[in-house]
Amino acid sequence: MAAEGRSRRDFLRRTAVTVAAGGLATVLPVAYGEPNGKRKAGDAAGVDASESASLRAHAQARGLLVGCAVIPEKLTGEPEYASLVAHQANILVPENAMKWAALRPAPDRFDFGGADTIVQFARAHKQRVRGHNLCWHEALPAWFASTVTKENAAEFLTKHIETVAGRYAGKLQAWDVVNEAIDPKSGRPDGLRKSPWLEMIGPEYIDLAFRTARKADGTALLTYNDYGIELDSPDQTAKREAVMALVRRMQASGTPIDAVGVQSHLDASTKLPGAGLQQFVRELAKMGLQVFVTEMDVNDRKITGTVEGRDQAVAEVYRNYLSMMLLEPNINVALTWGISDRYTWLNGPKYRRADGQPERPLPFNADYNPTPAFFAVRTAIDKRQLRIWH
Ligand code: XIL
Repeated sequence: MAAEGRSRRDFLRRTAVTVAAGGLATVLPVAYGEPNGKRKAGDAAGVDASESASLRAHAQARGLLVGCAVIPEKLTGEPEYASLVAHQANILVPENAMKWAALRPAPDRFDFGGADTIVQFARAHKQRVRGHNLCWHEALPAWFASTVTKENAAEFLTKHIETVAGRYAGKLQAWDVVNEAIDPKSGRPDGLRKSPWLEMIGPEYIDLAFRTARKADGTALLTYNDYGIELDSPDQTAKREAVMALVRRMQASGTPIDAVGVQSHLDASTKLPGAGLQQFVRELAKMGLQVFVTEMDVNDRKITGTVEGRDQAVAEVYRNYLSMMLLEPNINVALTWGISDRYTWLNGPKYRRADGQPERPLPFNADYNPTPAFFAVRTAIDKRQLRIWH
């Protein structure tokens, strides 16, 4: 265990205390019974109209943090969205609002508007917040390429982390310190992606980022976050192994790291779960690390047929995947990448179904009604033992 790291018991206790401190002070009037028909998010007249039926309440009772990526403009501008997020999540993550492109309008300026909105919303609703992210090869501002050079890159990265992590110090559950640094296809023996950070600073940019983050915020759990490491395909197995090798190198050199984020952008046509991921999670547990499901969604791009059939296929992946993951004692946190199909990056310009229909990857549909995925997530949460916090 790294000198600056924490013991496994410490972080488990921290999670417990954190969850207990959140309490059930926020009453959750939105309830859903079995999926027996259309029900609006504000309609509490469900089959099971008790206050205990939300994902948030089910998670809270089991000591879990469950939530979603959020968009600040919708939290302030769309009451129905805000209410759904308040009722269903006890942890939030900014979908884009804490990325460089959002925070850095100019080399010498920071704009914390969107990020602050989320942190304030979470505080008002007794929710935790994950920070996402401090260092990534994407979402860099337009000025970056012409301003950041080999000579000043380390200074830019350090100042960014000091300022951003410093601003929210003590308020965040975790930080995704470095996002998506592994790419075996880059062809390097160390598995690192050929990113601007790697090319300008060298492989030590990762160590620099984590050390700076720890100094700036001594309480957020420092996380390495990546995608495409969930399945047992040759590509994903190789990538997962490269992530494990990176984490081992970090621990060996005393770089502070507390957790690995498994993004979990999954495909409804893929068979799940795989033994490789479970082994990975257990290996990380032995190394004293937590694992977070950070960005789950299930795309139905390759599923043809009726909407009901597509929803069932998506729900099955949620059920299988989260049932497996949430039974691991070092997994206490799971977030979906959005809450409703109304706002999902999978319906953005990057992806399209062949039939042109929008995708349905999240626990609530575009009308804010719970989908089969909602019940699947709740079932998976319920497999965790009930815990009563005092
Ligand atoms: C995505 C957002 O959802 C989009 O709105 C944005 O245009 C691009 O980024 N992995 C990550 C996330 O770590 O930050 C990405 O979010 C999705 C993939």
